[in-house]
Amino acid sequence: MGTSVGSSLTACSKLFSLQRLAQIVRAQVVVETRGTPVASPSRSGVFDQATDHRVDRFTESVSFDRRLYAQDIRGSIAHAEMLAKVGVLEADECQQIVMALQDIGGQIRADEFSYSEQLEDIHMHIEQALIDQLGDVGRKLHTGRSRNDQVSTDLRLWVRDAIDRVDQRLCALQKAFVSRCEQDADVILPAYTHLQRAQPVLASHYWLAYCEKFDRDRSRLIDCRKRVNRCSLGTAAVAGTTIPIDRWDVAERLDFDGIVSNSLDSSSDRDFVIETAFVLTLIAEHLSTWADEWILWSTVEFDFIQIPQEFCTGSSIMPQKINPDVLELTRGKTGRVIGNLQTLLTLVKGLPLAYNRDLQEDKPPLFDSFDTVEICLELAQPIVEGARLKRESIAAGLENGYLDATTLMEFLVKRGMPHRSAHHLVGQIVAVARNRNARLSDLDVGDFQELNSDLDESIFEVLGVQNSVNAFLSEGSTAPGQVAVQLTQWKQKLGMEAS
Ligand code: ARG
Repeated sequence: MGTSVGSSLTACSKLFSLQRLAQIVRAQVVVETRGTPVASPSRSGVFDQATDHRVDRFTESVSFDRRLYAQDIRGSIAHAEMLAKVGVLEADECQQIVMALQDIGGQIRADEFSYSEQLEDIHMHIEQALIDQLGDVGRKLHTGRSRNDQVSTDLRLWVRDAIDRVDQRLCALQKAFVSRCEQDADVILPAYTHLQRAQPVLASHYWLAYCEKFDRDRSRLIDCRKRVNRCSLGTAAVAGTTIPIDRWDVAERLDFDGIVSNSLDSSSDRDFVIETAFVLTLIAEHLSTWADEWILWSTVEFDFIQIPQEFCTGSSIMPQKINPDVLELTRGKTGRVIGNLQTLLTLVKGLPLAYNRDLQEDKPPLFDSFDTVEICLELAQPIVEGARLKRESIAAGLENGYLDATTLMEFLVKRGMPHRSAHHLVGQIVAVARNRNARLSDLDVGDFQELNSDLDESIFEVLGVQNSVNAFLSEGSTAPGQVAVQLTQWKQKLGMEAS
C-alpha cells in the first residue's frame, strides 16, 4: 500500500496543486480505511472521491477475464517491443518490461498471483504488477493504447486459439464417424422422415451425414476466424493515438492477418464474438440432433444401438436402468449455448459507438459457449467410437414399415408408368399388404396383378431392403457405390489411411 500511494503521489505532484493532491490522498485513505488497500489505477487525478464500496464488486471483471492473462501478457510484450522499435521506449526499458511481464505470467500460471476486485480486470492487474516491479518504467507500457483496444485484442487472441481447439475436436469426431463406416459396412438402417420409417440406407450413409454437418461447422469456423484474426491494438480508446506507433508491427508480432482499419469500429466491434457464438450454437445444434437420435435408438422400442456404459449412469431406484445421461446433457446444454448467443445479441443491440462498458459482459457467455461445446465434443468422440450397433435387433425389424415401397414405385416409373400412377398403385399395394400384416415381398405375383395386370415377377428384384438399397443410383444417395466414393473422399480429406 505504501508503495502504491507513494508512487501515485510522485506521478500526480507534477500535474496538480498541493491542495488537489491532498484531496486525492484523502480519497485513498478513505479507500484504505474501508479495508480496500488498492486504489484503482484507472481513476486518474480527476477524481476527488473514492468509489462507493459496492461499485468494485459490481464492476469487476477479473473473476472471469483472468482467463485472458496469457493473451494479455503476449499482447503487452508485442506492444512494448513495437514501442521500442519506434523509439518511444528505450531498448533497456523494453527489456525490463518484457522480462517483468514474463515473470508475472509465470506467477499467474503457478497460481502465485493475488487478485483484487479493486483492480477491476486482468489488464489492470498485470499492469499494476508491472508497475509494482518496475516503477516508472512500468508506467510507460500503456503509452499509445487503451484498455478498449487491449481487451479486444486479448479476446481476439483467445478466440483464435479456442476456434482452433474446437476445429481439432470436430476433426476428431469426424474421424470417429468415418471409422465407424468400415465397422458397420454391412448394416442397413431405416431412414426416417417425420420420425416415420421412410427408406432404407446404409449405416455409413448416416455416419457421413454427420461428417457433412461438422464439415460445414468447420468451414464456418475457418471463415469467422478470418474476421477474428485482425489486430485491434493501436486503435486505442476510440480515435487512435497521436503517439507514432506501428500497428502492422504489432499485428505481425501477434500473428494477426492484418489490422482493424477504423478505430471507432474497432472500439465497438463485437461481431467477431457474436459470429463465433453463432458457429458454436450450430455445432451444439448438430450435436443435439445426434444425441437425440442415439437416445431414441438406445431405447428398447428402437433397440438399434448400445451406448458405451462408461458414458451412461444408473438410477437410484430402478436397478435395471442404464441411462444415456451424457447424450441427454449434450442435448440439454444446447439450450445454454443458444441462450448465450441471445445474450450477446441483446447486449450489443442499440449500443452507440464506440466502446461502452456493457461490452465487458461479452465474455461470460462467450466463454461458457466454448466450455460447453468443447466438453460436449470431447465426450462425443469416445461415445461414437465405443457405441455398438445391435445388428440382430436392427435386422429383425428392418423389413417392417415398407422401406422398399418407394423403390418399387420408381421401378414402375422406369418401366414407363407415370409417376403419379405408380405412386397411387404402390399405395394400393401397401394397403393390401398392411391389411394382411404382410411385407411387400410376402405378396405373390397374383396379388400385384389383381391391382395392375401389367405387373410381373420382375418386381421382386427391387423388393426387400437389401434389393432396395442396391437399386439406388443418384449422386449423394445411399447407393453402396456412392457411399464408397464419399467414404474414400472423407478419408483423404481427414488424412486417414486408406484401408
Ligand atoms: N474491464 C473492461 C472490459 O472488459 C475494460 C474497460 C475498458 N475501458 C474503460 N473505459 N473502462 O471491457
